[in-house]
Amino acid sequence: MSRKIIIDTDPGQDDAVAILLALASPEEIDLLGITCVAGNVPLALTTKNARIVCELAGRTDVKVFAGCDRPMQRKLVTAEHVHGKTGLDGIDLPDPQMALQEGHGVDFIIEQARAHDGITLVPIGPLTNIGTALQRAPDIAAKIDEIVIMGGAYFEVGNITPAAEFNIYVDPEAADIVFKSGIKLTVMPLDVTHKVLTTKPRIAALRALSGPVGPAVASWTDFFERFDMAKYGSEGAPLHDPCTIAWLIKPELFTGRHINVEIETGSELTLGMTVADWWGITDRPKNAFFMGDCDAEGFYALLTERLARL
Ligand code: BDR
Ligand code: CA
Repeated sequence: MSRKIIIDTDPGQDDAVAILLALASPEEIDLLGITCVAGNVPLALTTKNARIVCELAGRTDVKVFAGCDRPMQRKLVTAEHVHGKTGLDGIDLPDPQMALQEGHGVDFIIEQARAHDGITLVPIGPLTNIGTALQRAPDIAAKIDEIVIMGGAYFEVGNITPAAEFNIYVDPEAADIVFKSGIKLTVMPLDVTHKVLTTKPRIAALRALSGPVGPAVASWTDFFERFDMAKYGSEGAPLHDPCTIAWLIKPELFTGRHINVEIETGSELTLGMTVADWWGITDRPKNAFFMGDCDAEGFYALLTERLARL
């Protein structure tokens, strides 16, 4: 049975791959819409990029909404140093023809949560839209089956500061609302995404796919992996965001632990840290299924098989 999901996103090359994986997987995923948020690049670009990705897949029917253009309480921090000036650097694709939906992404999340019997939210950018929706309409918490998040870290600690992962760091107050919401949370932290590397043979398999999608994905990863390879000395870059969608399709690829995770919102030094009680040191309530490992070969086999359909 397919799950009704909303992808909340700031594309971003890895966000783009997550959206494509969802579009390629209708048996498991019923994509109600895409809500965009400011993150990797400002909102004007994330809304444009989400539509470019839908059009690349020939899916002009997907509903794409603009959401929040800045974090709940802070100034926006962006990541052009990773994703390039457009957020989707690596290949020149045509400007989108499909229109943005009218209305605000936060209102769409609230309406859809109230309209269905259990939806799944998949935030793969800063948590501003979800935090705002929960603050404005607390009743929707009971209508959301699960939130599957790309964000945070434990052993890997941080990528935007020594202590914090980008999505949580950009809007820690929104993340705090989500992690305290009582909603079932599944979290893909850097500890998992750093195992899912864009090695040469994995990307060659995607580049070899017929149709425009595989080569575009290969060009995107060629672009953004330069940053992580230089930083970590790894043989490829982590493909962070598609881990969320892969988990919805094939959860057996991942293992993790039910633990307590709290968000640091006070300290300047460790702002946005996901304080994850992996070893059960405290008796604080378990509020998240925090992933620790992934079958990377299985992940790329799934991604390649699915993207071949588009
Ligand atoms: C996350 O930050 C963004 O740059 C990526 O798209 C991903 O969602 C990784 O820290
Ligand atoms: Ca993202």
